[in-house]
Amino acid sequence: MKLLIDDARIATIERLCEVFPIAGVTTNPTILAKIGGNPFDVLKEIRELIGEEADLHVQAVSRRAEDIVAEANHIVKILGANTFVKIPALPEGFKAMKTLLETSEILVTATAVYTPMQAFIAGQCGAAYVAPYVNRIDNMGFDGVRVTKEIKEIFSANAMETEIIAASFKNAQQVLELCKCGVGAVTLAPELFYASVKNSAINSAVDDFIADFESFAGADKTMLDFQ
Ligand code: E4P
Repeated sequence: MKLLIDDARIATIERLCEVFPIAGVTTNPTILAKIGGNPFDVLKEIRELIGEEADLHVQAVSRRAEDIVAEANHIVKILGANTFVKIPALPEGFKAMKTLLETSEILVTATAVYTPMQAFIAGQCGAAYVAPYVNRIDNMGFDGVRVTKEIKEIFSANAMETEIIAASFKNAQQVLELCKCGVGAVTLAPELFYASVKNSAINSAVDDFIADFESFAGADKTMLDFQ
């Protein structure tokens, strides 16, 4: 399961990439609105930072299929081949996905997925990924993890190659549930990366080990002080 960052702040992405095994970055118009200006300025910076091999997901915002297709070509021309164009899983989006599948090698992530049926149709239209919004589904009174698992079952039952990139999480438990069933990828807000491994028991265990080492080796000593 790939881990991606759902954010566009360069310093934040840089710090996370130093610490965590990051496979790419996802953005959406709301995330880009927090940065402002020409969206390609920050997207080019992200591409440069994560490299050509990493996945970058960028959303098309047109409503008509023809315009979505034009936007998709424009986005990939500027940001490179490993850029997934996020297209809402709606009728005009499906039409755009079919056209892109027939006319290009552009990789599509079907976004704003709230139901298994949206995911199934997007997959049949050639989407490489579908992005169920786990927490937003929970907020509607349904079960986002369950919906995502159902999508996985549907893809498998129909021998579809479409992968899942689950999005919109509020806690590590939701992520872990999907990790257990092996979805293709999850994209997480920066806070969630740190929250997932933040636990006073972990810090306390490490502090105890260091104190025990220093008790016989001396203060601030490490293995480097011995041969
Ligand atoms: C992903 O495709 C979505 O843009 C994003 O993850 C939504 O997350 P949110 O529900 O936290 O805004």
